[in-house]
Amino acid sequence: MLDVGIVGCGAIGTILARFITEDASGLRLVSISDRHIEKSERLASTLTPQPLIESVSQMAEHTDVIVESASVSAVPEVARTALSHGSQVMIMSVGALADPELRSELVELAKKNNTKIHVPSGAIIGIDGIKAAKIIGMKRVVLKTRKHPESLKDAPYIKEKRINLDSLTEETLIFTGTAREATTAFPTNINVAATLSLSGIGPEKTSVEIYADPHLTRNVHEIEVEGSFGRFTTRVENVPSSENPRTSYLAALSAIATLKKMTEPLQIGT
Ligand SMILES: NC(=O)c1ccc[n+]([C@@H]2O[C@H](COP(=O)([O-])OP(=O)(O)OC[C@H]3O[C@@H](n4cnc5c(N)ncnc54)[C@H](O)[C@@H]3O)[C@@H](O)[C@H]2O)c1
Repeated sequence: MLDVGIVGCGAIGTILARFITEDASGLRLVSISDRHIEKSERLASTLTPQPLIESVSQMAEHTDVIVESASVSAVPEVARTALSHGSQVMIMSVGALADPELRSELVELAKKNNTKIHVPSGAIIGIDGIKAAKIIGMKRVVLKTRKHPESLKDAPYIKEKRINLDSLTEETLIFTGTAREATTAFPTNINVAATLSLSGIGPEKTSVEIYADPHLTRNVHEIEVEGSFGRFTTRVENVPSSENPRTSYLAALSAIATLKKMTEPLQIGT
């Protein structure tokens, strides 16, 4: 039985908590936390059995894995606390790991305490192929993201370049650059770009194209990969989660799959 704690009781935290308490064998939700106590209380009141509501350091005393489903700024404290107590940590706000100093500090802490950091594939598909292809190297990894103009409006790049998204009537390419550039230009794309870069050829060599399309109702991510292994393309059309339209339902499901994988004796997939 794997005892799980969740930090962040929003869209992902809620879906995970419900799954663990209702369906999962091998997983037990023992503790939850949110910076807004009323959110953890509200979630706890809907769950049977009810988890404890605790601080991250209290949680780390008695959990096997802590799931961070809060925010990029929550990652340093949650991950440091979990790892230094020998607990595993699963990071959803993976954009935090784009900081190389924090990443290597956490990896060293995990090694020292003989534990692990898990990063689910989240809202993209194809990480399995990239991990395999990476063994012999890849020469090209491109992420093509398509979103409704409304979801791109607040991006710093749109404001800085004074792009008028309201005037678009068809799909339009609005950004090309590296994954490193994309994370500052479009911070809401940070998790997808960071997961792809970290699993593959890094943020400087991963290319990103962002398209605005007024006809879209789902966020679409395509990944194109080329190397000596051959070539592949993946495409996912993501349904938004009901609690947070900015978060794809698939991201929460991939967190559940990662937790389940930790408990299963038969491991399928790269
Ligand atoms: N890896 C991926 O592909 C992927 C996909 C979607 C979302 N995400 C990320 O996962 C995280 C959670 O997403 P969500 O949709 O559930 O967000 P959400 O906004 O619905 O919920 C986040 C919750 O965390 C709480 N929180 C924020 N900062 C906190 C802190 N420092 N300490 C404790 N609680 C804190 C908030 O009060 C809120 O209840 C976000 O950072 C989001 O960007 C990752």
